Amino acid sequence: MADFENPNGSNNSHNESFQDVLDARLSRRGFVSGGLTAAAALALTGADSLLKAVPASAKTRPPAGPLLGFTRVPVSSADTVIVPQGYSADVLIAWGDPVGDGPEFQQDASNSAADQAQQWGMHNDGLVYFPIDGSKHGLFAENNEYADEGLLFPDGVANWDAEKTNKALNAHGVSIIEIKKHGPGDLPPTSRGFKKNGEWVVVPHSKYARRITGQTPMLIGGPAAGDDRLKTIEDPTGRQVLGTLNNCAMGFTPWGTYLTCEENFNGFFFRTTTPTDSRTALEKRYGITPSNGGFRWYLTHPRFNADTYLNETNRFGWVVEIDPFDPDSTPVKRTALGRLKHEGAWVQETKDGKVVVYMGDDERNEYIYRYVSNLPWRVARSQGINPLDDGILYVAKFNADGTGRWLPLTPQNPALVSWTINDILINTRGAADAAGATMMDRPEWIDTFPESLTAIATLTNNNRRGSTPASSNSPLGTTTAGAARPPIDAINPRAINVYGHIITWTYTQDFSQPTFTWDVFALCGDPAVPAHGSTIDGDKFGSPDGIYVAPSGRLWIQTDVSTSTINAGDYAGFGNNQMLCADPTTGEIRRFLTGPRQCEITGVTVTPDERTMFVGIQHPGETPDLPSSSDVRNDPAAPKAYSSWPDGAVGGRPRSACIVITKDDGGEIGS
Ligand code: FEO
Ligand code: CA
Ligand code: CA
Repeated sequence: MADFENPNGSNNSHNESFQDVLDARLSRRGFVSGGLTAAAALALTGADSLLKAVPASAKTRPPAGPLLGFTRVPVSSADTVIVPQGYSADVLIAWGDPVGDGPEFQQDASNSAADQAQQWGMHNDGLVYFPIDGSKHGLFAENNEYADEGLLFPDGVANWDAEKTNKALNAHGVSIIEIKKHGPGDLPPTSRGFKKNGEWVVVPHSKYARRITGQTPMLIGGPAAGDDRLKTIEDPTGRQVLGTLNNCAMGFTPWGTYLTCEENFNGFFFRTTTPTDSRTALEKRYGITPSNGGFRWYLTHPRFNADTYLNETNRFGWVVEIDPFDPDSTPVKRTALGRLKHEGAWVQETKDGKVVVYMGDDERNEYIYRYVSNLPWRVARSQGINPLDDGILYVAKFNADGTGRWLPLTPQNPALVSWTINDILINTRGAADAAGATMMDRPEWIDTFPESLTAIATLTNNNRRGSTPASSNSPLGTTTAGAARPPIDAINPRAINVYGHIITWTYTQDFSQPTFTWDVFALCGDPAVPAHGSTIDGDKFGSPDGIYVAPSGRLWIQTDVSTSTINAGDYAGFGNNQMLCADPTTGEIRRFLTGPRQCEITGVTVTPDERTMFVGIQHPGETPDLPSSSDVRNDPAAPKAYSSWPDGAVGGRPRSACIVITKDDGGEIGS
């Protein structure tokens, strides 16, 4: 049962007022006037975006119309996106489409590595709309989590060479475009790269259009910058790194920057272990293994060979800050936010102007983290300090009595007296083990209801909870990633948690408090099947992943049932992956969207007026039955075996894409 205050009352949000924004902008002007030094670049000042970019997360105004006003859609196994009657969904941009002046997508995947560096990346995930002119014109940033090399190349992983590594690296990272709502008085878009997509168009040749890839130079900021463990042959400073990888979910800051989060970075690195396993405890804790996901990058790019470039692995697993309004800005990895398999980084401002950042570490039996800046963000920035470089990292402990506590991950914590702050930030998982954090059922997305001082998080599933023999993450911080098999506990109450659940925690005073009370919003599964033990009030779903609180308080939930079990096994009858809308006050959950075959639904936001929604469709057509030795997720000889979305018969292969959803009567999405 949901237990929220009405999130739709008067607006006492902590959103910055116009004057706040102006003040911040003016103070920033002074800071950068000395030219773009390395320190200034590290500050990522948010450029001119501060007058414009307040993405829609206020969650503090009443909805226009009913919270759940739409007619539910049934489960579906069709190879298409289905939305309720009275709504439309159109593709905004898909993998390979031009970014800026980039070339057109070739349906046979024959685009070069250089082409891919100017095209929308592959397998998009978290996304943010940054307004330029309210709900009509803005920048759109989206992560590109990973590349399926079976789709990326006409011949898959055969004949591997440096060009292939480069194309794969260029398919990762972040893609940024400028988009505009196409008004009735505007000329129809005709030029190359100027697509009309419903009412929204991609602005051609935009000065903001940008690809950030697995090879883009970036800086390392925060306390761990320069640590010996971050130094490599190419970077003896430990402060510069090429690229960001496995960019899963995201966040944004009140100063107008985008946060992209490195999740399963370990899979890209090759490490031999024979004849004896020589991996360090740190490698094991993060899953640097010889299997390395089948990626061949190390064959042509030595930095991905962890046998010889071991420290390169330590330079991934961070949150990366990007200023989308300054295409010349250098992204910065923010080490104060810890190193883990970051799902996302969701920022909530406290009443006294500090930033709290919520982060999940998505692996079986990993933890939920938060960071609290030491200074109010405006004060920090006025002193030239990035608020994400100066703060305290915590990990969550959920007690059986419904209370919880944030355990500080600092050397002042008696459990961590033998750790330096850099030990903690580089092996954050180990520090959290030592601190006594609660092992969770794969933490994914987190968002907040500011008015009720509540956060909400998805725990997608866990097939090792309650299995035997029981074991926990060692307090020495040495347990191999994902290996532990903890018993059930109060907040993770199901053994072999096939369907996942959604939890909340609530404060009495502010989001920076050390303690909270927690609750379970929903145990997922089919509420009509008693054996599932589902507490859903509404439509069945499982493996919740994306979660997003819209300005009206509508709660959106996206699912990521894994390819091998979509509509099969425990998920028979659940159909394709889906997105649902919940009323957080009543707890009712209603299915709003179903995706094409074998896709995951991930990434969601709305424009400030809530009349346009952006949703990510990832990996349509991913093949469930390839042999594990194939090292690809689609058969290059039959790329359309499971899906031909979105291009249909004229397309050569399925493509991940972002879609735009509008209501035909112009109303709010969900009303
Ligand atoms: Fe990339 Fe945990 O999802
Ligand atoms: Ca996810
Ligand atoms: Ca997932």
